[in-house]
Order: sequence, then C-alpha cells, then structure tokens
Amino acid sequence: MAAADQPKLIVVADAEALAQAAAERVMARIAANPGRIAIGLTGGSGPKKLYQLLGSDAYRGKIPWDRVHWFIGDERFVPENDPLNNMAVARAAFLDRSAPSGHIHPIPTTAENPDASAAAYARELQAFYGAESLDPARPLFDLVLMGAGPDGHTASLFPGYPEIEETGRWVVGVPKANVAPFVPRVSLTLPALASCREMLFEIAGHDKQPILTRLLNGETLPAVRARSNGETVWLVDQAALPEGIRGGR
Ligand code: 6PG
Repeated sequence: MAAADQPKLIVVADAEALAQAAAERVMARIAANPGRIAIGLTGGSGPKKLYQLLGSDAYRGKIPWDRVHWFIGDERFVPENDPLNNMAVARAAFLDRSAPSGHIHPIPTTAENPDASAAAYARELQAFYGAESLDPARPLFDLVLMGAGPDGHTASLFPGYPEIEETGRWVVGVPKANVAPFVPRVSLTLPALASCREMLFEIAGHDKQPILTRLLNGETLPAVRARSNGETVWLVDQAALPEGIRGGR
C-alpha cells in the first residue's frame, strides 16, 4: 500500500493556479469513472475559488451532472441557510445552478443534535454505498476535498479530540469546535474519508505557512493522519510553503 503511505506534494504559484489545478483533478477523477461518481466537498476558505471555477462556463458544460453526486465531509451545526453552513457555500457557488437536487447530499442540521445528524448522514451514505461496512476494494468516494485548519484539524476532526480516533462509525457529532466558528460540528471520520480514490488537500496563502510547516514536519495532527486508501495529494501554493523550501520546487 505504498500509495497510501506518503502524500504527493504538488506546489503551484498562487491561489488561482491552485484552484485551476484542483479543478483539473476533479475533472480527471470524473473522466476516470464511467458510472456513478461521488465527490466529497469541504468547507472553509480553501475551496471557494475551486467552486467558482466549477460553476463557470468553462467547466459547467464539461461536468456530467446526471452522474455526479455531491457530499460534504463536515458541517457546522447551523441552519442550511446560515452563511456558516458549508454546503450552502457550495450550493450558492455552483451546485444549485447545475446539479439535480437529488444529487446534492447535505448533512442535515435540522436533527435534534449533532449526534442525531451524524447518524442520519451515516444512513444516507450507507444507502448510497449499498452496504454498512466499507470494502477497501470499492471506495465510497471518487474524490474527497480537504483543508487544513490553523490547529492542524481537517474536516471537523480536531487534534486531541476523541472523534479523531473513531474507527467504527462513518460520521460523528462534535459538540465543540477547537477553532472558530465555535459551533458544534458533524464530521465524517478518518475511515470514511479514507474510502476514496483520491483525497485532495488545498492549502494556500501565507496564513497557512505555520501549519503547513508543522504538517510537512510530520507532526501527527489530523491533517497528517487523514489519508486516502488510494492517492493523497497536498496541493499547496508558494505562499504557504515554509521559508526554507519556498521557490525550491
Ligand atoms: C470547516 C472545514 C474545515 C476546513 C479547515 C480549513 O468546516 O471549517 O470543512 O475542515 O477545511 O478548517 O479551513 P480554512 O481554509 O478556512 O482555514
């Protein structure tokens, strides 16, 4: 399983080039699967430019919308119309205009609490997958998008929190976030996120330099522990690179 061991680091010039490269990887994963495609989206600032690109005329016409299903790796436990809602950001940027509504799979935040919401989303994922346990030979997702927060969290799996150790459940409630926004979260777990052909991290901007430095040093933070059973790619821009290696790749 050498492919799952080390992430592949790809360095691009800036945030625009990063969104472009990410869009091309999304298209490549779509092209590689002639059947039903599942993509896990993410929240935060990282993917916004990518979402705009996927909604632009250049990409919109190339996506086989009737074959692609869109999920989300984590959600803030706020109403679906709240600006903090991760899926709302993706819907407004590109999904609502082009994707059939039955192909958009938000984490429901109308449940009584984050645990109930997590259980409902796990059932939805399992119904889509057609089984209650994950078969390594049959990944749940074609592609999962990820980001890395300032504390090294990814999805809503925070360092030192019990949810990062979950090995059984596919989705968990996270009562308290470690960074802003301090709202409860619902997150896919490491094994559910790993069940993909490609896990693609987008890490851009000077603000990310401290955390990218720690990740590249191999600290056992959630963003380092999150790996695809297939290919893991860290797409980073020059501004996020540690001083010592900037411009050197
Ligand atoms: C969320 C995200 C989260 C994100 C990182 C990075 O709900 O906050 O899904 O996991 O990817 O926090 O976010 P930024 O790019 O905004 O720092």
